[in-house]
Amino acid sequence: MNKTHNIAVFASGSGTNLQAIIDACEDGSIPAHLRVVITDNRDAKACERARAHNIDLSVHIKQDYDSKEKFEESIIDTLKKYDIDLICLAGYMRIVGKTLLRSYPNRILNIHPSLLPAFPGRDAQRQALEHGVKFSGCTVHIVDEKVDHGPIILQSAVPVHDDDTVETLKKRILAEEHKIYPKAISLFLEKCLHIDGRRVRIKKI
Ligand code: GRF
Repeated sequence: MNKTHNIAVFASGSGTNLQAIIDACEDGSIPAHLRVVITDNRDAKACERARAHNIDLSVHIKQDYDSKEKFEESIIDTLKKYDIDLICLAGYMRIVGKTLLRSYPNRILNIHPSLLPAFPGRDAQRQALEHGVKFSGCTVHIVDEKVDHGPIILQSAVPVHDDDTVETLKKRILAEEHKIYPKAISLFLEKCLHIDGRRVRIKKI
């Protein structure tokens, strides 16, 4: 029998992507058990969402540790306890460091609210509006040592309208995020992804 996949979600904010992942685990469209939510913000709405679904929550605050290495080692101890196969960053506001990356090579995914490589970093929707692009969207990618940079698994595009504000564009993009993130996680866990350098080929859907 196949071993159950165990996943962890890292979240710092409102946690709407976390919610999409919880729902997909519960309805079976992600073939995994969401064992733990890791957060650096105990007041995040994401924490409420985890509690509401009886998912363990583990709070790790960088300032409580002497170094980033020690901070990440404590996260790794938690992940090992839950036998985690895959980490999904979902609005996690910290840059993943070498310690965590080395322990989970090619096993950390992230979602970003732009069509990478355009507009990495913070305020991607504002960057897109200010640049005047006609389309933006979202990207699920594998995390590597550079911010919002690793191999791309899935993207979804949305139009940018003349009367868009950051908020209206955010909302349109978020709706797509909630579709492609669970899908990318399933593809990963079902071993449908072939990673060849920067290119990720999808073997079957
Ligand atoms: C999303 O736009 C995601 O792409 C970005 O941070 C935001 C998190 O939103 N990385 P939420 O906390 O999932 O609602």
